[in-house]
Parts: sequence; C-alpha cells; structure tokens
Amino acid sequence: MKTETTIHGLTASLQTARTSRKTIGFVPTMGNLHQGHLNLVREAKKLCDVVVVSIFVNPIQFGEGEDFESYPRTLEQDSHLLADVGCDIIFAPTVDQMYGKQPRLTNITVGGITNDLCGQSRPGHFDGVAVVVTKLFNIVQPNFAFFGQKDYQQLAVIRQFVKDLNIPVEVIGVPITRAEDGLALSSRNGYLTEDQRKIAPTIYQSLKQAEKELHAGAALSEVLLNIKTQLTDAGFVVDYVEARQPNLQPIEIFNQDIVLFIAAKLGSTRLIDNLQVQFKA
Ligand code: PAJ
Repeated sequence: MKTETTIHGLTASLQTARTSRKTIGFVPTMGNLHQGHLNLVREAKKLCDVVVVSIFVNPIQFGEGEDFESYPRTLEQDSHLLADVGCDIIFAPTVDQMYGKQPRLTNITVGGITNDLCGQSRPGHFDGVAVVVTKLFNIVQPNFAFFGQKDYQQLAVIRQFVKDLNIPVEVIGVPITRAEDGLALSSRNGYLTEDQRKIAPTIYQSLKQAEKELHAGAALSEVLLNIKTQLTDAGFVVDYVEARQPNLQPIEIFNQDIVLFIAAKLGSTRLIDNLQVQFKA
C-alpha cells in the first residue's frame, strides 16, 4: 500500500492502473476510520482492481462553530486499518494541496434536496461537500465511488451533481454499519462521554419502534412525534425528525416506502441516522 500526499504523486501512482485499463474504486473519507468506512473499502475491493481511499478533513464543509479544528486526525492508525482491508493507495493531501493559495471562485450548489434536513442547520455544508468530492473525482478519476447510506442526504446530493454535470463515475451506496447496540458508527461517536454513549442507541431504537408503529398502521405525524418525545426524554436536543420519499421528496401517498431521518444532539455532539421503512404492496 502506498500513501500519496500530493496530486502529482497520486497521478503518477495511478498511471499504470490507467494504462492497463484496471478499474479504479474510490472511497472518500475524512479519516479516523471505523468499520463503517472499512466496509466501503471492502465493497470497493469486491468490484474494482485498484482501490484509492482519500483522507482529508475538508475545511469548507464545516460551518462556523463546528468541529473542524478538533476533528480527530489519526492517519497512522487509519493506515494500518486500510492496509489490513487491502487498500492500494491512500491519498492524504494537505489543505494547501487541495485548495492552493489563490482564492477559489467556483462553487457547486445542488438545489432543492439541500434546502432542508441537514442543509437547514448546516448552511453551505453540502456546497463544501460537492466541491471537494468533485475535485477528488477529477484528481482520482475513478470508475466507481463508494458512499455510505449513513449520510443519506449527502449520497443523494452526490448522485445529483454527478448526473447533472455528467461526471463519468458510477456512485455506489453502501448500507449503514452499526455497533452491536444499533448505534450507527461515526467518527463523532468518539466525542461522547461514557454516559452519553449509553444513551446514544436510543436513536436507532426510536427508528425501529417507529417502523413497527407504521407497519401497524399508525399515522406518520404521530409516529414522528413519538420519536421526538423518546429522544427528548432520553436527554437529546432534537434538530429534526422527518420522513421523506427515498428520493428526498415530500411524502404524498400513504403506504409507499419512506425514509425516516433523525439529527439530534447529545451535549455538543450532533448525531444523525436514518431508516428505510418498506411497505409491501
Ligand atoms: P466521513 O464522515 O469520513 O465518511 C466517509 C464515508 O463513510 C461517507 O460516504 C459516509 O457516509 C461513510 N460512513 C460513515 N459512517 C458510516 C457507517 N456507519 N456506515 C456506512 N457508511 C458510513 O462523509 C464524509 O466523510 C465527507 O463528507 C466526504 C464525503 C469525505 C467529503 O469530505
């Protein structure tokens, strides 16, 4: 496994793969890797000849007062984990390497689907994601790129601009990896105190409970309210509890497949999760 920190170095490393028409799989991350990230790499290994994982804490997707400075940077530990799952190349550029010294004058805004859910409480966040992922796609030029359904709205945003801008990459969504108690794995779980970590699985429990209630015929508005109450009672400050169609459009017809979304804070740690609820016709 190689680690490249410059665009030039990465391009040189990928030269042979490109000329011998090997398929390149790409997994963008911000590092501090856990099994959720590693499962994306495992999926990439199944489908591609060469797997590139980027580790880059992208400053422009963090809002003011968010955790850019304190975001865990654990490159050495990440390298060991990636070597174990067969990653071929790590791309770990500096902020300077990615953004240079000149001001950036280009932005990418995906309309519509970024207006609510995380878009509302994190203004500019998805622009920052769209810009960095586009830059990374242009640098790596992968055949396939892998993203987790944990960040469901992010995955939808990426699919949208890839389609809108004809970016020649196939985007693959990978299911959420959870801890045994149901908590969706996240680098931010590391911020939780021992007590908060015990409360955190309430998010998933409330989603599963909601699924049961919906299948039993309960009204969606009532079910969403129950989630909010359960979370608030457990000590969360709820950012949003919402339901959408799988394409993130508002729900119009009852009994169609839906996705439930939660964002809630435990202390200063913001956690997100989602669950697809299927209704058989
Ligand atoms: P990061 O939070 O490091 O996540 C990298 C990828 O891992 C994302 O596609 C995310 O959805 C996926 N992931 C994280 N936890 C997961 C889990 N429990 N199960 C399945 N997949 C999981 O998302 C980002 O970084 C950044 O926004 C990035 C796309 C790299 C752009 O900077």
